[in-house]
Amino acid sequence: MTEDFRRATGPVISVRNLHKWFSGVHALRGVSLDFERNEAVGLVGDNGAGKTTLISLLAGVHQPDEGEIFVDGRPVRITRPREAMQLGIETIHQYNSLVPQMSIARNLFLGREPTRASIFGIGFLDIARMRTESTTALADVDLHLRSPDTPVDELSGGQRQGVAIARAMHFKTKVLILDEPTNHLSVKETNKVLAFVRSLAGQNVTGIFISHNMHHVFACCERVVAMAHGRVVFDRKISDTSIEEVHDVL
Ligand SMILES: Nc1ncnc2c1ncn2[C@@H]1O[C@H](COP(=O)(O)OP(=O)(O)OP(=O)(O)O)[C@@H](O)[C@H]1O
Ligand SMILES: [Mg+2]
Repeated sequence: MTEDFRRATGPVISVRNLHKWFSGVHALRGVSLDFERNEAVGLVGDNGAGKTTLISLLAGVHQPDEGEIFVDGRPVRITRPREAMQLGIETIHQYNSLVPQMSIARNLFLGREPTRASIFGIGFLDIARMRTESTTALADVDLHLRSPDTPVDELSGGQRQGVAIARAMHFKTKVLILDEPTNHLSVKETNKVLAFVRSLAGQNVTGIFISHNMHHVFACCERVVAMAHGRVVFDRKISDTSIEEVHDVL
């Protein structure tokens, strides 16, 4: 690897020659990409192109069979979702990232539960803190729900997406990956998510936004990367391309 990877000023995430097989399926066929600091990248491509597979390697859901991942220039092995979170990579998955039976507050702190020491030295969940902090986190993303105690399975799709976004923002993530976050959302809710993605750069967050809707990508990203059959086939600044040009390569 070159010296560039050693500098903290370089890309926040770099991947080199990633390969992933799922039994007989060669889902990633040598993907190399850099994700720069504070930029929103749209990741597009047909069904089965490998988008979710790629981000699942960054989110610690799967491990690459070949290739390397660098975060802030350092080679990393991300073997669990919790390790991704510790590296500052938060993911809102294509199929909901929340536990429906749990309350909003519990979901917000999933994997990061604050504990309070008891007189016996056993840590107890700090429920009061989770409730108050959850209310703030939701208000910060302009989501006003009845109560942080509401179970997530009583929320609409858009509200669930809002909780997942609130969680990512509250814990000051460095990279936020959104895998088709606007699926099943109303126009109003979709516009909220797009505005949110647009605001990421200003909050020093790198966004990776996966979508089938090219208009959404062009509305909120600075760069577009297209994948086909497990490979990157197009990578361009939004200002230097057009929806038609991206469609043509897919
Ligand atoms: N867990 C898995 N087990 C087996 N095969 C998988 C698994 N995950 C993905 N694949 C296969 O890998 C390929 C890439 O799938 P992936 O989910 O990455 O596509 P995608 O670009 O996210 O598509 P979509 O736009 O439909 O979400 C597909 O052929 C898919 O069937
Ligand atoms: Mg997918």
